[in-house]
Amino acid sequence: MRILRTTQAIRTWQHRQNAHKTSIGFVPTMGALHDGHRSLIARARKSCDTVVVSIFVNPLQFEPSDDFGHYPRDLSKDLTMCRKEKADAVFIPQWQDLYPHEFQTTVTVNKLSQRWEGEHRPTHFQGVTTIVTKLLNLVQPSQTFFGQKDYQQFLVIRQLVKDLELDAKLTLCPTIRDADGLALSSRNQYLLPAQRQQALLLYQALLSGKQAIKKGERRARVVEKHMAAIFEAKHQSHIDYLVCCEAKTLEPISRVQSNTVLLGALRIGAIRLIDNLVISVRE
Ligand code: PAF
Repeated sequence: MRILRTTQAIRTWQHRQNAHKTSIGFVPTMGALHDGHRSLIARARKSCDTVVVSIFVNPLQFEPSDDFGHYPRDLSKDLTMCRKEKADAVFIPQWQDLYPHEFQTTVTVNKLSQRWEGEHRPTHFQGVTTIVTKLLNLVQPSQTFFGQKDYQQFLVIRQLVKDLELDAKLTLCPTIRDADGLALSSRNQYLLPAQRQQALLLYQALLSGKQAIKKGERRARVVEKHMAAIFEAKHQSHIDYLVCCEAKTLEPISRVQSNTVLLGALRIGAIRLIDNLVISVRE
């Protein structure tokens, strides 16, 4: 497995793959890899000739109040997983290389970025779209793999690719969950046992919304009430949002439609977790 530490090294690697007409599967990550990432690497392995994983804790996508300094980092464990999953290369850039002193360009997707996560983390998606544009330019992958847990992120990146005519194929892969239903996230490792019980309520709330829809409820406000009820009398966590919206635009809806997504974000102390369920309804 090649370890590429500079933008020059990834460019040289990329040119070599191009020369051999090798299809490149790309899994961009911020490290602290878990089984969710493992499944993305495995999926890339199945679909493409060669697989590259990037590991970069992108400072641009953290708000000043976010946990950039405390974001989990374990490079040797990450590399072990990449090796096990038979990644061909790992790109581990230094931030000075990606964001040199004179760096001054950012990429913004306007409307989609402003909703939900954007309301609580106003500069987050600009950081994501800027780094993803840079990574796609450097790696020039045939296919790039993202997890559904970050559903809004995927839609924002899809919009970016469409608007800027980037030649990139994006694949959304299912959220991987622990046996108790908690969506895997690098931040889960910080949850104390009692906090984990709180965290589980997020998925339970989404399931309760889904259940209401399956039973025929179509009023979005009522579905949202079903979800919020799961948290009643549980004051240790704070819901940032728990909503029912249109699955492509993420606009709030008054009635459940054929493509609906239930989105939620929860703060438990300093830990922030997100989750979602996409629901298809026959109207
Ligand atoms: O989803 C993530 O891990 C990050 O937001 C990404 C896409 C690697 C950009 O830093």
